[in-house]
Amino acid sequence: MSQAQTLAVEVIAIEQVTPLIKHFTLSAVDGAELPAFSGGSHIIVVLRGATRIYRNPYSLLSSPHSLGSYEIGVRRMEESRGGSHFLHDQVTVGSRLEIAHPVNLFPLAKTARKQVLIAGGIGITPFLAQLEDLHDGTAPYELHYSVRSPEHAAFLPRLREREGDRVRLYFDSESQAIDFDGLLANQPLGTHVYVCGPAGLINRVMTTAQRLGWPDSHLHSEQFTAPPTGDAFEVVLARAKLTVQVAPDRSLLESIEAAGVEVPYLCRGGVCGFCQTRVLEVDGELLHNDHFLSDAEKTKGKSIMPCVSRARCKNLVLDL
Ligand code: FES
Repeated sequence: MSQAQTLAVEVIAIEQVTPLIKHFTLSAVDGAELPAFSGGSHIIVVLRGATRIYRNPYSLLSSPHSLGSYEIGVRRMEESRGGSHFLHDQVTVGSRLEIAHPVNLFPLAKTARKQVLIAGGIGITPFLAQLEDLHDGTAPYELHYSVRSPEHAAFLPRLREREGDRVRLYFDSESQAIDFDGLLANQPLGTHVYVCGPAGLINRVMTTAQRLGWPDSHLHSEQFTAPPTGDAFEVVLARAKLTVQVAPDRSLLESIEAAGVEVPYLCRGGVCGFCQTRVLEVDGELLHNDHFLSDAEKTKGKSIMPCVSRARCKNLVLDL
């Protein structure tokens, strides 16, 4: 993914939908239709700050049938990778941004006999677009939406209006919790389950489904990991013959890009595997934070996903 492939968009509406979530509507600067996408797709939003460039993934929540604009929901993160604060505090109606073409790493399975969607908090966003795809009636579906309190339930009026009783709500504030065993034990053969939200929710759904004998091919999850901060370290890019400093608040990928070296990426959240980079030398510990490499690959230490992973060492040499 290179910057040459980005699209210029303008922010045409911003709405504060919960105390922590803002809803942004973006349209092409030239007024043209935006590229087609399917429910579950995300875009990378490029934000040019005074001293750094942020590239953050956000799920598209608008209808895939309406390409005059894209909509995203942005939660202000406490431990922000930076972009969410930038979007909340500095972007206004009329601001111009760059976005990458949509990519779908969380698509609906076309062969499913039933679709069960489970969202936690801001994890509702990819489902809003998927629900539009599900309105064609090819498979029955239901949505389970777990959130802190009614005040924090983003997009609730839209869901209630469009989905009626196909949405089940669970508010922590009212001690309501999803009965994962009951939900997953009583689905017809051929059902697919999708979960998006905090790591705890995803783990709970996955471990319950696996214990109940669900095939892995029918389980789908999406969680983009924000690049964690950490100690500063140095990396040598062998082919570029460059030594790059990685600051505590920058990801390895951002630091490499800032040095003028391009690394392919799709998600920038440790999911897609596109940024996988060969480690030629390391004299310490690789801090793997991705969901892509297997445990065995992480232990071997021959690859790293620079979008989210770091190192604690004196000497790290990458095949870049
Ligand atoms: S860009 Fe997707 S795993 Fe790094």
